[in-house]
Amino acid sequence: MNLNIRSAGTGDIPDIKSILAQYILETELVEDNIDQFVVAETGGRIVGCACLDSNPGLVELRSIAMLPGWKNKGIGRRLFETLMQRARGMTDRIFVRTTARGFFEKMGFEALDGSQKPVLWQDCAECDKLDVCMQVPMVLELR
Ligand SMILES: CC(C)(COP(=O)(O)OP(=O)(O)OC[C@H]1O[C@@H](n2cnc3c(N)ncnc32)[C@H](O)[C@@H]1OP(=O)(O)O)[C@@H](O)C(=O)NCCC(=O)NCCS
Repeated sequence: MNLNIRSAGTGDIPDIKSILAQYILETELVEDNIDQFVVAETGGRIVGCACLDSNPGLVELRSIAMLPGWKNKGIGRRLFETLMQRARGMTDRIFVRTTARGFFEKMGFEALDGSQKPVLWQDCAECDKLDVCMQVPMVLELR
């Protein structure tokens, strides 16, 4: 498989949104955050994406997803490693909120207590679905 991992551009927005929508992941912030996205491309087709959201105070890996049929081929790891290269020097730790806990454990993340979500994230603190939310907060210490 000839796979190219590259920074995303505005022309990739429809493909990124289409992938995220398949998993009911947030699509509203893609336009504003497009500079923070990377995509995986093969045969002229975008098959995966990921975003490093570098807000002041908290750096978060978001919106990592593969097209169905392109999972479990090592593409998620490649996207993750590309974003980690960007993160080094920027921060000491990366956070994620995810239902794909097993993947992030493989990448070295550790789960935090769920009670940390409203402490770490203002949008969690304001969310009326916090009590039923299945997303696990996790952190990776960069050493
Ligand atoms: C989670 C996701 C991004 C992983 O990408 P991927 O390309 O399938 O993962 P990779 O093939 O690079 O897997 C890397 C390793 O993680 C493991 N892994 C992948 N997904 C896993 C999961 N859900 N649970 C446990 N382990 C997982 C793989 O087996 C592999 O292990 P290995 O290195 O020992 O062989 C992908 O499955 C996906 O698109 N999921 C749906 C969207 C989603 O939930 N995204 C998370 C948003 S925060």
